[in-house]
This record gives sequence, structure tokens and C-alpha cells, in this order.
Amino acid sequence: MPTASRSFPVSLFGVLDLDFVRGEFPALETDWALMDNAGGTAPCRQVIELMRAHMERVPVQLGASYGLSVEAREAVEAGRRAAARLVGSEADEIVLGASSTVLVQQLASVLRASWDTGDEVVVTNLDHEANIGPWRRLEETGIVVREWRFRDETLTLHEDDLEPLLSERTRLVAFTHCSNVVGSIVDVAALAARARAAGALTCVDGVAFAPHRRVDVRALGVDFYLASLYKVFGPHLGLMFGRRELLREAKSPNHFFVSEESVPTKFEPGNVNYELAASLVGILDYLQALGAHHGLGEELDLGACFARIDEHEEELVRPLLLFLDEHPRARRIASAAPAGTERVPTVSFTVDGMRSSELPPLLDERRLAVRYGHFYAYRLVRDLGLLDRDGVVRVSLAHYNSPREVERLIEALDEVL
Ligand SMILES: Cc1ncc(COP(=O)(O)O)c(C=O)c1O
Repeated sequence: MPTASRSFPVSLFGVLDLDFVRGEFPALETDWALMDNAGGTAPCRQVIELMRAHMERVPVQLGASYGLSVEAREAVEAGRRAAARLVGSEADEIVLGASSTVLVQQLASVLRASWDTGDEVVVTNLDHEANIGPWRRLEETGIVVREWRFRDETLTLHEDDLEPLLSERTRLVAFTHCSNVVGSIVDVAALAARARAAGALTCVDGVAFAPHRRVDVRALGVDFYLASLYKVFGPHLGLMFGRRELLREAKSPNHFFVSEESVPTKFEPGNVNYELAASLVGILDYLQALGAHHGLGEELDLGACFARIDEHEEELVRPLLLFLDEHPRARRIASAAPAGTERVPTVSFTVDGMRSSELPPLLDERRLAVRYGHFYAYRLVRDLGLLDRDGVVRVSLAHYNSPREVERLIEALDEVL
């Protein structure tokens, strides 16, 4: 349920009232500073409560005539509507699944059925492997795979580099909305328009973007879009938006007797996890409460909420970027862009004379949850030549992090580097 709250002018507490925000996340009642949020965010209280309520009150199978089953079905469908609202689509365009990885694997095999040998797909070397591997694997079935490489200077994707990869046989371009390692945001609308003009579909990985900015799949003009809800303050579920007509046309991976018309059910073999799906409403409830508390209106306005989140995150990340840029041993692996439209508060770096695996344990002692590795963006880290350094150290902030936590991190880095 939406939380009734007083609204305060911004000036009383800065951009976000962090006492309010952090109070909505039970897991933040700890002395650990959670800075591995691109790996997964804490779930908000509203999500936890709805999940619990579902398991306690309506733990029954959907699709029966009895009242409890009807109630359970409505709760799951409300979750799907919430997921749809989160990305700006209709509910029947949302497929829920165990993870984004699994949803892309399913999509690739479903779409392959309508493609011919010699048809082409474009993948990047910037993405998380979830949106590369399933497409690349189609090579074994006669699909031609082309690689769209990020530019070293900007660590992002450029339209000019896509152009020569497109042909009349390109069936799909798979690319990320935002890097989960370097935080750079890709201009999806422009790139999707270019792919569309070439007659290709687009599959965009929004997993690293969705926790930080408003997603609007219509404005982006994409065909398929992924988000992982456990990184958006929710439960361990993946979401795939698919344009309605594409979902209808695609061959069902479900049992033979499940109708081709039953969208999105035909893409959810074995059903969705009911309690997790039902809890998705809690993400919107939380954002509604956040908006109401900050004077952004009693009605949920996702654009306004995420604009406020963005503003806070930008302030949060700035001192860290400055510190890294000024420290003689730290090498920031990121575009030069400060924040705003070009990056989210996910910052990766290496340290001269140190393997990336050596730093996080030193921060553990200070209760700073930071991580090293390639974060499944294996090709990115490999092509940056950093695999033999144990990858990068990644600090990924969320809007519930406080300036004091970032200060603690900077103090710690100052001490140990
Ligand atoms: C950018 C990005 N894409 C995809 C994934 C995979 O998400 P899931 O765990 O839901 O499969 C991740 C997970 O870390 C990610 O960061």
C-alpha cells in the first residue's frame, strides 16, 4: 500500500531525505555500506511485505475457480501491470522469468525458428554476456554473427560503427542501454532507429540502466528490453518487454496445447514465481511514497521520481570521481562524462601496482561492500586488457547510499592506496 507521508521542500534535507529513503530498506540497517548495487540492490520494505502477504494468504495455484485462486491470480497480474508501468509498456507485453539471462536465452531460440541460415545478428563487446552469448551461440545453427565494438576513447557504442555491420540479412541488433562495469549510457533511441531503418529488430539490455533512470520502451523504440528486478529494489525476477505483435508472431516455447494466442503466458513455461511476481507492486508503492515524501505529488510520477534519484546519485558519485582522477595510482575505467545523461553511478577503476582482487578485502575490514572482477562483461574487460589484473574494482552506488558512505570509501581508499 502507498505510504502516506508529509512532503518536505528539497532544501530541508538536500535532494533526497535519506532518513526516509533508508528507512524503507530493512537491509540497510547495518554498518555495511552497500556499494555493489549493480550486482543487486536491497529490496524495499513494500516488496518484502507483499511477498510475505502472498505466501501467507494466497499460496495456491492460479487458474482455478475458487476465490483464493482468483485472488492469487489478480495479485500476480497486478505485479505484471506494475512491471509494465516501470518500463512504459502494456501488461501483455511483459514476460516474467527467472532472470534476464534466461529470458534472452529463450528469446534467441524462439526467434531463431523464424530465421534462415545465413541471416545475421549484431552483438557488442560492451554488454554483459547475458545479451551476447545466446545470440553468439546461434552461429552453431548457421546464423552469421557480427561484432559491434565499443570505442576505447568513450567506452561506449557509436552509430557510425554499427552502420557497416548492417545488411539486408540483419535480423537483430543486441546491445546494452548502459554498461554494468563502466556506467556509460548508450543513446538507445538513435541506435534502435538506425537498426529499424535497416529492417532489424533490437534487443536492449536495460539491466544496468533501470535502477537509475526512467525507462520508456516506447520512446526508446525498442523491440525487446530486459530488466532484472532484483537490481531495481525488487525480488529475483527478470522482465522482458516484447512488442505485442512480435510476441504474438513468435513460436511458443511452451507445451503444445498452450495457444499461440496466449501472450505472454506462452513465454512463461512452468508459470512465473507467484510470490515474487505479486511483490512487484511494492516497487511502485515505494517510488510513489518517495515521490509523495519529496513533494513530487501523491500520484506516482516515475519521471519525476527518477529525475530526483538521478540528481542525488550525481551528487553522490562526484567526489569519488574526483578522488580517483586525482589519485596518482588510481586509473578510472570510464568515459570522461561526469554523470547526468551519459553515465550512472557505477564506477570502475584499477590501481597501479595492485591486482584488482587485492583491494576489496582491505575495504571489507571497513565494512565497505565493494567488488572486483569482470562482472560477466567478460569481453569488455578482456578487450580492455584487464583480465590478467583480475579485472577492475567496481563501486556501484544506488540512490539510498549516503554522502557519508562515499566519504568513508574515499577515506579508506586514501589510507590503503
Ligand atoms: C547489465 C546486465 N545485464 C544482464 C545481467 C543478468 O541479469 P540476470 O541476473 O537477471 O540474469 C546483469 C547481471 O548482473 C547485468 O548487470
